[in-house]
Amino acid sequence: MTKTVLRVLSGEAVWPPPVWLMRQAGRYLPEYRAMRAEAGDFLKLCLTPSLAADITLQPLRRFGMDAAILFSDLPIVSLGLGQALRYAEGEGPVLPPIRSATDLDALSLDRVAEIVAPVWETVRRVAANIGPATLIGFSGAPFTVACYMVEGHGSRDFAAARLMAYRDPELFARLIDLIVAANLIYLRGQADAGAEVLMLFDSWAGMLPPGEFRRWVIEPTAQIAAAMRQSHPHVPLIGFPRLAGAMLGEYAIGAGVQGVAIDTAMNPAAAADMVPPGIALQGNLDPLALVAGGAPMHTATRKILDALRGRPHIFNLGHGIVPQTPPEHVGALVELIRAA
Ligand code: CP3
Repeated sequence: MTKTVLRVLSGEAVWPPPVWLMRQAGRYLPEYRAMRAEAGDFLKLCLTPSLAADITLQPLRRFGMDAAILFSDLPIVSLGLGQALRYAEGEGPVLPPIRSATDLDALSLDRVAEIVAPVWETVRRVAANIGPATLIGFSGAPFTVACYMVEGHGSRDFAAARLMAYRDPELFARLIDLIVAANLIYLRGQADAGAEVLMLFDSWAGMLPPGEFRRWVIEPTAQIAAAMRQSHPHVPLIGFPRLAGAMLGEYAIGAGVQGVAIDTAMNPAAAADMVPPGIALQGNLDPLALVAGGAPMHTATRKILDALRGRPHIFNLGHGIVPQTPPEHVGALVELIRAA
């Protein structure tokens, strides 16, 4: 029998919908915190296949979600291009910023495969042990990866990256093209290693006006999707253009993905109107409703299920699980969906 997540991504409405949660492997789980403390360094976790494979499967062992998402992180593809990467304690990724053609010229596709090879090995190990669930690989979408590469760290507005796109669109386009090419190497390797679905996280897509959104979000994603259709036609893609708002429909039609993840702020009924019916929707419970649990979580979950019933839908959060989430609430959520 075909796995439910794959049925939904082929355009079928499955009831109750399959469920998994963004950041389902992470700091809210004591078993993750224990491994993290032992390894010391987050990047070491991402690049050690035995550890990353075990962490990927931790939430499935506890809660039996319908999919596992590869445990890794978004700027691994920049590391593959030769940009140094480290994690400051309690912060996100820190990279030496790309601000000029000289900085860009120092990056190269030559060593991507060698550098990301441990991640492919993680995928192989998870694929061998995943059982009936679906294995989802991922990368950062080009615009969001470019945001980190140019800014050099997380930011409220990624002003340096967005200013580069206005002041020197050719340079920014060269960077985006390079990330598209690196992502193709990275994603194809994940698919060859056993990833059954691939997801592209465009966390900062929603900062862009419509013209820039088309140029830096939809177009590069469409290039990746078209190339993946050629080489891996049976591996569906889920795009997550976070905070796309009114651009969601254009993204769904133009990006060439089989599923669109919707963020917490999106009304699911409005998303269902904007997105063509054959494209699956994934989402979009507020991660804080999951922290609250109980009646607020039940009510919010019910609303999403009802709004998307009859549509191909994969239940998920509208953004990643936050560290203060009580693990029992995750168990209760999975039960709630299964009993719908
Ligand atoms: O969902 C999963 O469990 C799979 C693994 C995964 C991580 N990051 C692990 C992680 C995935 C899919 C990501 C994606 C990611 N990473 C995104 C896109 C989704 C989103 O949240 O918008 C982004 C923007 C990043 C970049 C990133 N990595 C930031 C901003 C941070 C710091 C903030 C935070 O949440 O910790 C990270 C670190 C990170 N990535 C951790 C984990 C488990 C925590 C590291 C630790 O253990 O200290």
